[in-house]
Amino acid sequence: MGKETCLLTQQTNHINMKAMQAVIRAVDFAVPSRRMSNEEFSAFLDTSDEWIRSHTGIGYRHIAEPSVATSDLAVEACKKVLEKTGIAPEEVDLILIATATGDFLGFPSVSCIVQDRIGAKKAAAMDVVAGCTGFIYALETARNFILGGGARNILVAGAELLSRVIDWKDRNTCVLFGDGAGAVLVSADSSDGNRGILHSVLRSDGSGARLLERTEGGTRFPFKDGVIDPARTYLKMDGRQVYNFAVKVVSEGIVDLMESNHITTDDLSWIVPHQANVRIIEAAAKRSKIPLSKFFINIEEYANTSAASIPIALSEMCSKGLLKAGDLILTFGFGAGLTYGGNLIRW
Ligand code: ACO
Repeated sequence: MGKETCLLTQQTNHINMKAMQAVIRAVDFAVPSRRMSNEEFSAFLDTSDEWIRSHTGIGYRHIAEPSVATSDLAVEACKKVLEKTGIAPEEVDLILIATATGDFLGFPSVSCIVQDRIGAKKAAAMDVVAGCTGFIYALETARNFILGGGARNILVAGAELLSRVIDWKDRNTCVLFGDGAGAVLVSADSSDGNRGILHSVLRSDGSGARLLERTEGGTRFPFKDGVIDPARTYLKMDGRQVYNFAVKVVSEGIVDLMESNHITTDDLSWIVPHQANVRIIEAAAKRSKIPLSKFFINIEEYANTSAASIPIALSEMCSKGLLKAGDLILTFGFGAGLTYGGNLIRW
């Protein structure tokens, strides 16, 4: 009898799964009000607006006040999304925050802090650590929770405070990053089998783990009594190697995702890439023979906000009227880990 009941439940779930889609119901974002220009770096570093713009496409970044932590930005973005949808915090089943710059080292997670602050009393909460690809990983995780019947409403956010972990004396890295959070509500929806997160590709290449790291403070190289070298806790990157990796995986990954879904560039309204460097986007567009005009680019204003860059981009696209219901879009990211991947989404 126990066995039969179990089988019936599985079959019922399977029938429901077919019709159910994981749909993005709203998107919003939060960035600190302090807007820092490239020129400001010239006051304390050997750099210039001309160098930063020509090598990266970055003009500004938003920098959090010292009293602000990652969860503060995530809470603001998540609250805005809930307000837009009218979903009560108690109706949220799961909170997934993609971040590599949590409020605390390792634990507690940012998502648990967000859960408490927004009053999502029935929600599970966990962080997704996949570098700048974190939001893409988190969206696909949300889709699987929904298709598996484990959740109906999921808050997914990317939230980062990179200004807190960069070396402000290192011109190779500190000009590249900014702070921010972007969030979406992903809900179960069976009204239109064509809508929602349709397919994702998630990949990793840990052989490049040390190309982008914060060397000390973890269990490999723990803090030692009396030996404190802050520089070894800051973000360190082999920019050239990451650049080469990014151009390769973005150009090949976008084509893979299109081919495996039997679509062409003409079917896509937008490609929304991780905003790390406009030259990476330009090189990937050229290599994959996709017109640059298909790529949404807003790096000039926010710099690289890591896992927050894609949801911030989606939110800006919505408020500018660039995303309409029914549009097919493709996100693609890469980052620390190394990780990379993309989502195909019918908006
Ligand atoms: N201002 C002036 N000069 C600079 C600066 C700066 N801010 N930064 C570097 N330079 C100098 C270097 O010191 C070097 O000088 P040298 O020749 O005297 O040694 C020169 O510029 C050229 O350096 P390169 O590293 O060759 O510059 P490049 O054109 O490759 O640009 C960059 C560097 C922007 C970091 C590029 O390699 C890049 O974008 N890499 C990928 C970075 C990335 O995407 N990171 C994030 C991915 S994951 C995540 O998002 C967390």
